[in-house]
Amino acid sequence: MQESVLYLNRQEFGKAENSGKILSPEEAKGILDDWVKNDRLKVHMKQVAHLMGAYAKELGLSDLEVAMWYQSGLLHDADWDQWPDQHCRKIIEELECRNVDPAMIRAIASHGPRYFGVEPVSLMDKMLYAFDELSGFVHAYSLMRPEGYVGMEVKGVKKRLKDKTFAAQVSREDIQDAAERAAMTVEDLISFVISHQANADLS
Ligand SMILES: [Fe+2]
Ligand SMILES: [Fe+2]
Repeated sequence: MQESVLYLNRQEFGKAENSGKILSPEEAKGILDDWVKNDRLKVHMKQVAHLMGAYAKELGLSDLEVAMWYQSGLLHDADWDQWPDQHCRKIIEELECRNVDPAMIRAIASHGPRYFGVEPVSLMDKMLYAFDELSGFVHAYSLMRPEGYVGMEVKGVKKRLKDKTFAAQVSREDIQDAAERAAMTVEDLISFVISHQANADLS
């Protein structure tokens, strides 16, 4: 999602004593349903959540970490629909009130370093930043293909990236910057998104 500029002006999020605490699936879904009325935005958040969870799983992380990665994706834009001028301060403060693990809150705080002034540091931070814009871009491409995700190739996505009029709001520089920070090629990132995004649970 396109970001407004709101520097958070801090680098510390949550409390160390809450390490290991995340929301229940019901609580996370509750925030999503209460705060986000825009269905397209909900799809975006569920898709990013799915990519984050799938990536964490492939890394062999624990169930808790997989759920944390998933929730960071699911909630990263939770305040964008109703309070775009407070994005992403509001969701961060909400998760701090709910005593969520600081690592998860920090990932959300760093999902747009140019906009929020928080650098992605952990791998979870970096992958949330990387999947965010690319997920929406690949989804936009799937919607213009009669076959959707079926048969989609990396080179097709790359061609659209070169076409500056396609999904013009998606920053190509951010995609490149995010891939570099994640120490991945844009091609590998696109390939992961293509092969996983169609399986996201959008219910
Ligand atoms: Fe987003
Ligand atoms: Fe965002």
